[in-house]
Amino acid sequence: MQELDDHPSGRHFLQIPGPTNVPDRVLRAIDQPTIDHRGPEFAALTKSILVGMKKVFRTEADVVIYPSSGTGAWEAALVNTLSPGDRVLMAETGHFATLWKRIAERLGLMVEFLPGDWRHGAPAAQIESRLRADNEHAIKAVCVVHNETSTGVTSNIADVGEVIDRTAHPALLMVDTISSLASIDYRHDAWRVDVTVAGSQKGLMLPPGLSFNAISANALAATRTARLPRSYWDWSDQLAVSSAGFFPYTPATNLLYGLQEALDMLLEEGLDRVFARHERLAEATRRAVRAWGLEILCANPAEYSASLTAVMVPDGSDADAFRKIVLDRFDMSLGQGLGRLSGKIFRIGHLGYFNDLMLCGTLSGVEMGLKLAGIPCRAGGVQAALDFLRDTAPGAGRDSRAPATGSKDAALVG
Ligand SMILES: Cc1ncc(COP(=O)(O)O)c(C=O)c1O
Repeated sequence: MQELDDHPSGRHFLQIPGPTNVPDRVLRAIDQPTIDHRGPEFAALTKSILVGMKKVFRTEADVVIYPSSGTGAWEAALVNTLSPGDRVLMAETGHFATLWKRIAERLGLMVEFLPGDWRHGAPAAQIESRLRADNEHAIKAVCVVHNETSTGVTSNIADVGEVIDRTAHPALLMVDTISSLASIDYRHDAWRVDVTVAGSQKGLMLPPGLSFNAISANALAATRTARLPRSYWDWSDQLAVSSAGFFPYTPATNLLYGLQEALDMLLEEGLDRVFARHERLAEATRRAVRAWGLEILCANPAEYSASLTAVMVPDGSDADAFRKIVLDRFDMSLGQGLGRLSGKIFRIGHLGYFNDLMLCGTLSGVEMGLKLAGIPCRAGGVQAALDFLRDTAPGAGRDSRAPATGSKDAALVG
């Protein structure tokens, strides 16, 4: 058997912003015998999962599930709706937006990339002026990453949706929620999103290996004229059999067991409570960072991510050397700086299956690591977080997890 953990005792702290810690409940659910994916038991599982996923996407629209990483769902969104040479408007929010753009270019789309400084979200005002200037309706899609995992910046998707409505532009809105779904409030229908892209390994608390598209009626209509080659990713193959509970190919059966369990957990807690938990843990993290005297990469407090916090290290310090010390000494993985941020930042993931004391352990490891790595900063970050967590504790024990009667989420429990 492969040895993944040569540490003498205790659990590894997986504090990268995804994959996230997988709850024992989910691990146990995955650890069941694989069943016939063409049998009645499997069909019931798929149907139940699709109902649950629609609640999480906050949509009545169709949802498809791929046995793939999130990158596959990025590609699926584009190939099902667009044709070679189509113009696509994307916003340079960071590394992941840049990767999605690269896929679009490889597929033969003409990408207009609104430049960004990797410290701000997608600029709704600039998107509006581009759409207003596009009298010919050459732009076929607007693609935005909701939560840019490389920077810890969350874009305002409601604003972008409103812009598209206000300009009455027919472009489809496609949103990547890979590090926001089930961690940060997201509404596929209310924000008039056409294609939502998601993955299993972050807020959904699963291992990597599943990805998703939620598909509006407009996006579905676009498939009729879309001419980019598609086969494996073709929504129509999935939709033809998914209402009966099946897949057009062999699905990731055991990950789907885990997904059912994760959905149960999320809906038992209630989505609004899940989001509030993430926001509170993110605020505690930011208080620690400020107390250390370090800078948060996200430059606009209205766009702070509830999933992760990216922390800048002072000039002359090496964020990767610091991360190595934290891993070697405390068995904790922190996120590295990606792309142009390599070595300049580290990222603390505080999403998914996570609570107050897990955050306290995480921040303690960071504070000790900063000192050991000789990064110029102050002590007291952990204390600042403890003070905040103590003063904002949302009740004690199981009662705090019970759904609030009459809350917006009450209908989602089940
Ligand atoms: C926002 C975002 N989009 C896309 C991806 C790519 O997903 P995957 O690595 O699962 O293919 C990631 C991965 O971390 C991500 O964080």
